[in-house]
Amino acid sequence: MNDKFEEYLKKVEKGLYDIFPSEMLPQGEVIKAAEYSLSAGGKRIRPVLVLAFCEMCGGDPDNALDVAHALEYMHTYSLIHDDLPCMDNDDIRRGKPSCHKAFGEATALLAGDALAILPFEAIARSRTISAETAVKCIGRLARCCGTLGMIGGQQIDTCPENGRVPDGLITSVYRMKTSDLIEAACVCGVFCAESADETVFVQRAAEYAENLGLAFQIIDDILDVTSTDEVLGKPVGSDIEQHKNTYVSAYGLEAAEKAAADYTGKALAALGTFENNEFLTELTKSLLVRKK
Ligand code: IPE
Ligand code: IPE
Ligand code: MG
Ligand code: MG
Ligand code: MG
Repeated sequence: MNDKFEEYLKKVEKGLYDIFPSEMLPQGEVIKAAEYSLSAGGKRIRPVLVLAFCEMCGGDPDNALDVAHALEYMHTYSLIHDDLPCMDNDDIRRGKPSCHKAFGEATALLAGDALAILPFEAIARSRTISAETAVKCIGRLARCCGTLGMIGGQQIDTCPENGRVPDGLITSVYRMKTSDLIEAACVCGVFCAESADETVFVQRAAEYAENLGLAFQIIDDILDVTSTDEVLGKPVGSDIEQHKNTYVSAYGLEAAEKAAADYTGKALAALGTFENNEFLTELTKSLLVRKK
């Protein structure tokens, strides 16, 4: 699994920055800020999911590279904005000062905006997928990141009307803020395979992503309580400091661990309906026991 992950990672890193202009421009600071956050050392789970879903569905992962990059741009934007003082107000991200700490709030806001738009340029100009596939990817990514998806989840998570997300809403907020971008990664990976079985693959990929996303966010909440800044590369205790109602604060650590394992089980079951699922099966299991 690790070798395959490294192989995908290498593909993702190669060309990730090619879309940025290399010449000095008067607005160069915003480009520097976007590159700074992108290169700060994320796990690259979402772009790897794009490549792995493409390959599992019979496609050539090299054809999905631009789409994989797009997912990492979008994810990095979400982290830059998530850390802003008006959101979670976190000063460390990926082991380095958050974008607004390094570049100031206005530049960080704009770097986030730039990274939120870049995915559509990257996909639209891809030479390795058909125009029809590009339009499908753009449509899915936009829907998953919009007010019914990630932004919707972030709205309820960061601006709850009465100070707390009600217990009963926690998993639906997690579906929006975390599962939906993961869904975009998996489903766009399927689109890039351009398979005759696409419709059924998309349905199963979405089911996988919903459950993996729930497990992923619950583990993120657990690590916020149990890890250290050094290991995690972001401030632990942030949820408590921000009085967030998380799966852990609502139901306790033990129930959170059980829920993460249950959702991982459901994700694995959805994956079991695909042939050639070995890499993704191992990756999914490893994410349940991740330390960062
Ligand atoms: C953090 O995502 C935000 C969540 C949805 C929990 P990751 O844990 O994938 O962050 P990076 O990309 O590795 O920094
Ligand atoms: C973030 O959730 C989800 C996003 C859409 C960015 P968190 O606020 O828990 O993520 P971290 O812990 O800051 O990475
Ligand atoms: Mg947040
Ligand atoms: Mg946060
Ligand atoms: Mg968190």
